[in-house]
Amino acid sequence: MLVGLSSPDDAGVYRLSKDLAIVQTVDFFTPIVDDAYAFGQIAAANALSDVYAMGGKPVTCLNIVGFPINKLPDQVLADILRGGADKAHEAGAVILGGHSIDDPEPKFGMAVTGIIHPERIAAKAGLRPGHQLVITKPIGIGVLTTATKRGLTTREEEDEAIRVMARLNDLTEVIQELDIRAATDVTGFGLLGHAHEMAREAGLALRIRTADVPVLAPAWKFARQGTWPGGMHKNRAWLTDMVEFDPSVEEMWRDMLCDPVTSGGLLMGVAPEVTPRLIDALKARGTLSAAVIGESRTGRPGSIQVI
Ligand code: CO
Ligand code: CO
Repeated sequence: MLVGLSSPDDAGVYRLSKDLAIVQTVDFFTPIVDDAYAFGQIAAANALSDVYAMGGKPVTCLNIVGFPINKLPDQVLADILRGGADKAHEAGAVILGGHSIDDPEPKFGMAVTGIIHPERIAAKAGLRPGHQLVITKPIGIGVLTTATKRGLTTREEEDEAIRVMARLNDLTEVIQELDIRAATDVTGFGLLGHAHEMAREAGLALRIRTADVPVLAPAWKFARQGTWPGGMHKNRAWLTDMVEFDPSVEEMWRDMLCDPVTSGGLLMGVAPEVTPRLIDALKARGTLSAAVIGESRTGRPGSIQVI
């Protein structure tokens, strides 16, 4: 076992031979959008993301399904599964099978197995002092999807959230070519929560600049209206002792940085001399963001200064 419960990370890693290890993860959730096909895409992209966050290449997937059989039309389930299958295909992985149960509330996700060289793992603890922090998707998903659930968003705003969440974090080649060893994906704990985990595991402190953090434009509108999901408040309370906000950082920004994200981008730590090549590679691949948002340094492990 190379990565397991003793050093919790995005996925577990198990060595099969001198030059081959498997990366394993499982993730599933209840629908976060009304569109069944989009839900399938998002759930699959999110499950695959934890393999990408280790620097692995997804190979096989198993569907996990809870569905109210006899209550919702079969077509809804077919659309969810088609969304998942299309994402697996896009990732170059195959679906081997799966398991379903009758469930009053629909649920979908995948168990994903990937492969990686045992000495080329990108872990949360891989961060080093002076690394620059790079993020590949904008944040603001939680407040936007909450607004959608309350019927406040336009079709365009909802589609933008779906486009971001369904986007694969398929950066295995970039991570391996540039030998990036510090990565995680931004999900339920928000940008600051996942940044904190990296810092804590690496025994380092971070500094993050709000001016450089990419945020979905419509998210600000709903932030001003205060349509935050409950998870944002939980994340902020959890991080209170760990985050020091510069007095100039306005309240709405503090909330936004703690907003839970579904299927967010990769957060990577890279040596400054590698950063330009990483940004070029991300731009060449058209990632939704390619932003340098801060850096790591020595200091109280897990602490974050936000300026
Ligand atoms: Co993760
Ligand atoms: Co996960």
